[in-house]
Amino acid sequence: MHSSDIRSRFLAFFAKRGHVIIQSASLVTADEKGITNPTLFNTAGMQPLIPYLLGKAHPQGTRLVDSQKCVRTVDIDDVGDRTHATFFEMLGNWSLGDYFKKEAILWSYEFLTSEEGLGLNPNQLYVTVFEGDKNASKDEEVANIWKNIFTKNNIEVGGDTTKGDKGRIFYLPAKNNWWEAGDNGPCGPDSEMFYDFGNAFKGTLLTHTDFVNADDTRVVLEVWNDVFMQYEKKDGKIIRTLPKPSVDTGAGLERLAMTLQGVDNIYDTDLLKSAMDKIKELSKNWELISARIVADHIKASVFLIADGVIPSNTDRGYVLRKLIRRAVRHSDKLGMQGDIAEVVDLIQQQYASVYTNVADAQNKLRIQSVIQEEEYKFRITLAHGLKEFAKLATKDISGHDAFALFSSYGFPLELTVELSKERSIKVDITAFEVEFKKHQDLSRVGAEQKFKGGLADMQDPMVIRYHTATHLLHQALHDVLGDGVGQKGSNITAERLRFDFSWGTKMTDEQKKKVEDIVNEKIAQALPVNQVIMKKDEAEKTGARHFFGEKYGEDISIYFIGNDINSAYSKEFCGGPHVKNTSELAGPEGMPGHAGKWKFKIQKEEASSHGVRRIKAVLV
Ligand code: SER
Repeated sequence: MHSSDIRSRFLAFFAKRGHVIIQSASLVTADEKGITNPTLFNTAGMQPLIPYLLGKAHPQGTRLVDSQKCVRTVDIDDVGDRTHATFFEMLGNWSLGDYFKKEAILWSYEFLTSEEGLGLNPNQLYVTVFEGDKNASKDEEVANIWKNIFTKNNIEVGGDTTKGDKGRIFYLPAKNNWWEAGDNGPCGPDSEMFYDFGNAFKGTLLTHTDFVNADDTRVVLEVWNDVFMQYEKKDGKIIRTLPKPSVDTGAGLERLAMTLQGVDNIYDTDLLKSAMDKIKELSKNWELISARIVADHIKASVFLIADGVIPSNTDRGYVLRKLIRRAVRHSDKLGMQGDIAEVVDLIQQQYASVYTNVADAQNKLRIQSVIQEEEYKFRITLAHGLKEFAKLATKDISGHDAFALFSSYGFPLELTVELSKERSIKVDITAFEVEFKKHQDLSRVGAEQKFKGGLADMQDPMVIRYHTATHLLHQALHDVLGDGVGQKGSNITAERLRFDFSWGTKMTDEQKKKVEDIVNEKIAQALPVNQVIMKKDEAEKTGARHFFGEKYGEDISIYFIGNDINSAYSKEFCGGPHVKNTSELAGPEGMPGHAGKWKFKIQKEEASSHGVRRIKAVLV
């Protein structure tokens, strides 16, 4: 059965039973803090419905059904095994204070086993029930409902599995059979359905231990979860019983597809198979796990960008960045360099009719270019870092070297660790952290004071460029306006630099032009950027710019631009990071049509506060 068939059968089955079909909500959760936003993305079908599960009236009624897009990254390291993905679809039927346990369970059973539904063999079905704890008692009501349904359908139920008997119904603790999305919100006991998809047990009854072992090794697979929302939690404690209990069910589409398509992993289902085939076609060095990571991460990225997320260094944008960059790394391992776009395109086509925003007029090209641009940015980081890494990787990587990779090449620690693993060498992570801490102390002034509001991301090649450009701008302002200029603040993102400095009047066009010309000249001169660390009194003697009245430690890091510190064009007390050479500000080599062509440009010059001017500038 094709996945689109599973999806539409599910919606139709519940529509026929009085449920209104609702559209999937965006992957991006509402921005309000608290219970409506326990996570950055919808990680379960119930999340967009939390307010309604707590009692708010839903405009479309009390019985709803949907297929909700979800992104879950807590298991990102497991992606590539048989069942984990960061993007998945959750089918769910919802009772908002309407029907409860009896109907929910009956319909789950019917949908799974009837011809109108999926037609699965009920003898291969096993179910779990909440065993009870201090919050709620053992759910014998649910166990009895299951017992009756099985018996009515002539399916053997067996004895009491808590007493060691063989059976079909198993009691498990809250860890397994209690659902909540974080410490706040609706919650309650649940009942889960497992399917012996490979028919390993031939429909026989199992002991509690047999079942638990089978679940652990995924011989039987959880296909559906019926949650009985009866309570509300606040800060991890139950604060009330809900006046109108609700039902939240969740059936993972990928897993259902796996079950119905007779394959032992989600990547062989039609939901991911075409992407996997495409990757295989494009790969020179086929490697299954990497291929799965590429397929999953690119798919998740397409959906996230469609829902408005863009790569950045915080929150949602950071998750997206990580997904794209991991996909790029693994695509390189596969030797499919430069071909990610084809996978993007395929996923867009595949989902265009189900989730239209992945390929509509507004998003089709936008999604492709966001991914391409991020890939491109990452490649610059990679190219520099990989070269350096290869030099270092003849032995275990010391904390000092891991830190050098990070600070000078923007190489994230996790990448160093991953690459080292591949070569069976070790990274001294503890020593890295010590270095990192030392560096932070060293650069406290350089960063904290100067970058009020933050230096966006020390690892982003564009941010590093703008950081060096800021030093050039600072000196150029001194050249043009004189030494009355003093730095008041700086804020850098991957898109621009912003520099605040003391100066009383608006700059003339001519002054601005002069500043731009100087900076561009320094870029064209391809000056080296160097770092030295020296004792404070020595450092002060170099005449490097620093903040008066600021407390510095004993060891000072200075960055200077030029061949030696005495004749350097610019020198500042600063923790970095910076580019190695000002030529890098002219754009990366190897980017068609861009190599060395970027120019420094002042976009805006305006008053920031009394006696302080603010410049925004870009490299374009
Ligand atoms: N919230 C439950 C789950 O995600 C059921 O939808 O498993």
